Amino acid sequence: MKIAVNTGGGDAPGLNAVIRGIVLSANQKGWEVYGIKYGYRGLMDTKQIVRLTPEIVLDITDIGGTILGTAIKGDPFKYAVSQPDGTFIETDISDTIVSNFKALGFDALIAIGGDGSLRIAQKFIEKGMPIIGVPKTIDNDISYTDVTFGFDTAVNIATEAIDRLHTTAKSHDRVMVVEVMGRYVGWIALHSGISGSADVILIPEIPFDINKVCNKIRQLALLGRDYAIVVVAEGAKPVGGDISVVEGKQPGGAEVRLGGIGRKVRDAIGKLTGKETRDIVLGHLQRGGAPTTFDRLLSLRFGAAAVRFIEAGKFGMMAASQSTEIVAVPIEEAIVRMKSVSLDSDEILTARAMGISFGD
Ligand code: F6P
Repeated sequence: MKIAVNTGGGDAPGLNAVIRGIVLSANQKGWEVYGIKYGYRGLMDTKQIVRLTPEIVLDITDIGGTILGTAIKGDPFKYAVSQPDGTFIETDISDTIVSNFKALGFDALIAIGGDGSLRIAQKFIEKGMPIIGVPKTIDNDISYTDVTFGFDTAVNIATEAIDRLHTTAKSHDRVMVVEVMGRYVGWIALHSGISGSADVILIPEIPFDINKVCNKIRQLALLGRDYAIVVVAEGAKPVGGDISVVEGKQPGGAEVRLGGIGRKVRDAIGKLTGKETRDIVLGHLQRGGAPTTFDRLLSLRFGAAAVRFIEAGKFGMMAASQSTEIVAVPIEEAIVRMKSVSLDSDEILTARAMGISFGD
């Protein structure tokens, strides 16, 4: 067997551990593994295909990022070709990718990626490519899997940052507003906010009323707490308002870039409460550095499971963590809807029981 692996979308801690899980378990079966660099770009330019041996993956479990590189504007169904006038046109180069994949003699592709990459994988599956998916994202928004790798690391980083912000908030009687990642779901904000003892958590699933946020801050002051910590998911929005976007859709399939809500919330709190208020955007810090033990183990398990799925001929399936098992679920089902925070989830109930406000 000759199998290929690629990584698509934003990097997430644990990508290299998945690659290691794949390479070592495939090697035990006597299979050859090749890395396709920069998403699908390596299938257009064969210089971007690398043989992955056990030696290459020996010590990469704890290294963030991806040794294969990744692409956020590399959708082969909407490939962005630059024009002399500086604009781009989108072209469908998917048939070339399929024929190059076949010509190179690959028996299977393991596509590691988030919802966007899994959607692309599904289109290739429909064109007959034998693909197994591995769900990756710090946002934790992929359905049918309890968790995605990268999420635990991001939450740990965000929690530590929130812990550290208590110091300044307390010493200066300030409101500290922390914007965290998560795109259209509030998992990172919710988990880090509860664990970091936030007073307010704003998530996309619960549009907020800024007056209610300010009331919470005033109530704290009445109780003698002159500071507050507000965690805002980048996709949070006010009741009746829109999400904050810093850059619209780009050619090549890149999604809109979210950002700016932390600053807006900061300005509004400062104006309405008169309190000294600061904001901080954690941004890509949440995706950087070594994966946690949890993410390393999950990633290695996903990698090993993906190889088992190939052996069992389970093409079109994605490795998913459900309870204590890694199971195979159809990619086409996993991409139907995002996994968002359920309003009656135990985390939400716990947060409310801790007195945390969601601005609702
Ligand atoms: O999907 C992962 C993620 O980190 C989101 O949380 C964030 O909105 C986005 O990627 C940022 O993407 P980029 O690195 O392309 O700016």
